[in-house]
Amino acid sequence: MRTVLVLGGTGEARELAARVPAGPRVVSSLAGRVASPRLPAGEVRVGGFGGVPGLVAYLRAERVDAVVDATHPFADRITANALAATAEVGVPFLVLRRPGWAEGEGDRWTWVDSVAEAAAVVGARRAFVTTGRQALGAFACGVARVVDPPEEPTALDVVLDRGPYTVAGEVGLMRRHGVEVLVTKDSGGAMTAAKLVAARRLGLPVVVVRRPPAPDAPTVPTVDEALAWLAAVGGWDAGPAHGG
Ligand SMILES: NC(=O)c1ccc[n+]([C@@H]2O[C@H](COP(=O)([O-])OP(=O)(O)OC[C@H]3O[C@@H](n4cnc5c(N)ncnc54)[C@H](OP(=O)(O)O)[C@@H]3O)[C@@H](O)[C@H]2O)c1
Repeated sequence: MRTVLVLGGTGEARELAARVPAGPRVVSSLAGRVASPRLPAGEVRVGGFGGVPGLVAYLRAERVDAVVDATHPFADRITANALAATAEVGVPFLVLRRPGWAEGEGDRWTWVDSVAEAAAVVGARRAFVTTGRQALGAFACGVARVVDPPEEPTALDVVLDRGPYTVAGEVGLMRRHGVEVLVTKDSGGAMTAAKLVAARRLGLPVVVVRRPPAPDAPTVPTVDEALAWLAAVGGWDAGPAHGG
């Protein structure tokens, strides 16, 4: 195997790029949404491919031998495109998708299908909105935490930050802003889970946006399993890491 394409934008994608054994060329792909993204080890390309035809052309031009889609669980368009493009070119394709979060003892979660529906459920309550820059205008009051400033006007206070976060920090933020309800996507993973523990400690309800449907493709939940798949596809043994 010569070239592995990792579709990224997540901590798992960065970990995978750093842990692929030395040998194959590893290219990590970012959409280019964030002004100064955390960069993975090794080669990085930035920007959309131009839909399925663009990705098909890229896979052929770069002679990509395997694709791991380690994008965020809510980035469903790039995943659908990657599934279609790899099928067309005949390139092995794996989805690396961390498991979603589960409600714990004493939690009060309401599941919804979109951020707009979450805003309707929240109503006039002061919300801590952690679903990204989109649809912030739908919320009446509270605080939004985003990586880059929102492009649309919003009635919410805006905190610019990115994880990982601590439970103490999340409790402090929610108290400072008089938060009455937490709004989150079911992103899963440890990096942003502290807000859920904080909401539990403060006895606050949580509105959780459901994930889009899982892709119809081989899927693993951990970087270790993605590495094992790559080793099987590429016919290599575990060895020294690629970088980082
Ligand atoms: N959605 C979230 O909540 C979220 C949260 C954290 C991180 N992210 C990361 O942010 C990026 C964009 O997410 P999204 O939800 O906007 O994606 P999306 O809706 O699934 O994709 C929209 C378009 O953006 C381009 N794109 C997306 N991810 C790409 C990648 N890794 N490399 C190259 N092009 C990519 C593709 O453009 P073309 O059709 O032109 O190829 C795709 O059709 C992803 O890398 C994702 O992992 C997303």
